Amino acid sequence: METHLMPTYARADVAFARGEGARLFDAQGADYIDLLAGVGVVSVGHCHPHLVEAVEQQARRLWHVSNLFHIPEAEKAAARLCAMTFADVVFFNNSGAEAIEAAIKVARKHFAAAGEPQKNRIITFEGAFHGRTLGALAAGGNEKHLEGFEPRCPGFIQLPRGNEKAVRSAITPEVAAILVEPVQGEGGIFAFSDEFLRFLRAVCDEHGILLIFDEIQCGMGRTGRMFACEHAGVWPDIMAIAKGLGGGFPVGACLATREAASGMAPGTHGSTFGGNPLAMAAVNAVLDVMENSAFLPRVREAAERLDMALRRLAEDFANVILGLRGRGLMRGLRLKDGVANTDLVRLALEERVLVCGAGENVVRLLPPLVITDAELKEGLARLRRALERLAHETG
Ligand SMILES: Cc1ncc(COP(=O)(O)O)c(C=O)c1O
Repeated sequence: METHLMPTYARADVAFARGEGARLFDAQGADYIDLLAGVGVVSVGHCHPHLVEAVEQQARRLWHVSNLFHIPEAEKAAARLCAMTFADVVFFNNSGAEAIEAAIKVARKHFAAAGEPQKNRIITFEGAFHGRTLGALAAGGNEKHLEGFEPRCPGFIQLPRGNEKAVRSAITPEVAAILVEPVQGEGGIFAFSDEFLRFLRAVCDEHGILLIFDEIQCGMGRTGRMFACEHAGVWPDIMAIAKGLGGGFPVGACLATREAASGMAPGTHGSTFGGNPLAMAAVNAVLDVMENSAFLPRVREAAERLDMALRRLAEDFANVILGLRGRGLMRGLRLKDGVANTDLVRLALEERVLVCGAGENVVRLLPPLVITDAELKEGLARLRRALERLAHETG
């Protein structure tokens, strides 16, 4: 097919016409079980009636005004995000990468405004993925992603995962912050231990540096708590969120304590679209759904079912599956070396269930958080068929 889209994706040969909950339908009406949710975006399912209604109503009233004016819908969303977290202030933008860029800027400006501009290095970890803008790419440090886009932005120090000694010895007077995904997504669904996250909090406090969590993929209920760091009982000083925040509407946010954001005065950062009324209608509607007291318990229940089913698959297909990874409804199947994750993703699509790859030969599952037992069961039955075919092909 001739395409006028820049060929930055190796697209599968399918297009969807409609979605409902955890199901997608192509133009011929064939149904697919969505265990991917647009890579962790469609948090409350496709076309959730409350979101549809909220966005429709807002679209009839007012789409966009500049941040040069007060935006009550953004005030409301920010107040709600602060009420449910450590944060005092929020900066809205349009994507995960932008939320990370904002987080980096907030951290650097914090020290620059306090007269320590040389304190600007940021520690990150192997396997990180923070987005595709130049700053976020440098933070992620993935050589494959960086190749050909030199010169790379300086100021990032990448360390091995989970190594306390390496962190301690990397902290110099130039270090401003530590940036980490509590559960790495693209890197291969790698969950840092609660102990390591608590260590990072403690070491940041000890040295007076800022802790930044990238909860773009693992936040907004994905792991069974509203934010993955809550499992460890620690909050960062700055947190980037996006993906599930808008339920499919492109929106990101950088949350911070007032202290961490002390350098952010008028003119220090901006976004034309960030926090506009239409995006904020989507965010407020997602929060309405997630703030229901039954929401997170239901995510945990679905996560338990998924976990049990994945354990069975790992047992039954021990010839192709090396192990399970992740937390809640953010799970990965680590395949054996020599079995390509892309093959399982392809076979799953043929069986009409959507999953995707991640680093370290992992197949990633990020179903909508509202997936029903029936949808989950059907999706896993299809995944089992794909695994049977993969095991057969592998021999
Ligand atoms: C943890 C994490 N950070 C940042 C990003 C970048 O988000 P976006 O693609 O919305 O810019 C992603 C996207 O996959 C992500 O998973």
